[in-house]
Amino acid sequence: MSYARITGTGSYLPEKVLTNHDLEQMVETNDQWIRERTGIEKRHIAADDQTTCDLAEQAARRALEAAGRSPDDIDLIIVATTTPDRVFPSTACLVQQRLDIHGCAAFDIQAVCTGFVYALGVADKFIRTGAAKCALVIGAETLSRIIDWTDRSTCVLFGDGAGAVILEASEEPGILSTHLHADGNYESLLTVNVGVSSNFDALVRGEAYIHMKGNEVFRMAVNTLGRIVDETLEANHMTQADVDWLIPHQANIRIINATARKLNMPPERVVVTVDQHGNTSAASVPMALDVAVRDGRIQRGETLLMEAFGGGFTWGSALLKF
Ligand code: UT7
Repeated sequence: MSYARITGTGSYLPEKVLTNHDLEQMVETNDQWIRERTGIEKRHIAADDQTTCDLAEQAARRALEAAGRSPDDIDLIIVATTTPDRVFPSTACLVQQRLDIHGCAAFDIQAVCTGFVYALGVADKFIRTGAAKCALVIGAETLSRIIDWTDRSTCVLFGDGAGAVILEASEEPGILSTHLHADGNYESLLTVNVGVSSNFDALVRGEAYIHMKGNEVFRMAVNTLGRIVDETLEANHMTQADVDWLIPHQANIRIINATARKLNMPPERVVVTVDQHGNTSAASVPMALDVAVRDGRIQRGETLLMEAFGGGFTWGSALLKF
């Protein structure tokens, strides 16, 4: 049986850094509150002329280089994003043009913070069925564009960035399983409630902002992530002890720690980037993966558990041999 295996990772952060101290000048907040309640110290913000596609392209080029592949090898492009450059074409098509790739399927996936895990699940199925052999899977966001910079309850949380993987058909184990879920009943707890076919006027006025009932989302995230970890291990007849690395969505250090405790994962086996990146939605998991691969923590053959939770609600996991 053919597996889908990650053969290269890449990420890109925009240059501009926004620290907690910078935010103290913008809203009534303080470094101590942000660190204690979220674990965030700083986040990166895209330049005015930088788009999601720009960030995605850089991450993609680094992943291609790491995999030893050229754009010609790619036969599927999926971009997970909540902040696409345009209504259409998809950001995946724009990335395809940048990389001078022609003809392969290219599309975006919108599952907010779970977007990359969803994209990985879809790409895995393309590869396992033989519909693709070498996929470029990206999570990329410019969340700074949909933040109300006067709302202290949200503006301290988010950042911009992109992460990418090359996923190739292989006889060696790669992705073991993905588990994808959603429950639209919770749409109002975390939303940008403007779009093309509703509240379009607000969008035109530039009032497309993230609204979140933070503590309700927090409670749901902790409970749901605990359940998905159980579901994933059970499906693979594994126990917590079989997992080498937890690569969680980076929303809040307290959510990450709660999931790690449930897994009995020692902190040194959990990849944490929320302190440096903030919450970058669909970009957070692939960026965390790339950081830990490049600094030598994650080694070939190790077992990785990725999980995420976000707007929708959506949630999901991927268990894989690296
Ligand atoms: O990525 C998708 C999923 N997203 C998440 O998982 C995020 C989940 N939620 C969270 O991470 C947390 O709920 C937050 C970090 C957003 C908020 O932390 P919290 O411990 O739930 O705080 P809270 O919303 O209950 O607010 C506590 C207090 C409030 O003051 P009062 O009413 O107790 O006087 C807030 O007004 O903290 C206040 N507060 C702030 N204070 C200083 C809220 N934001 C700030 C701020 N600086 N930036």
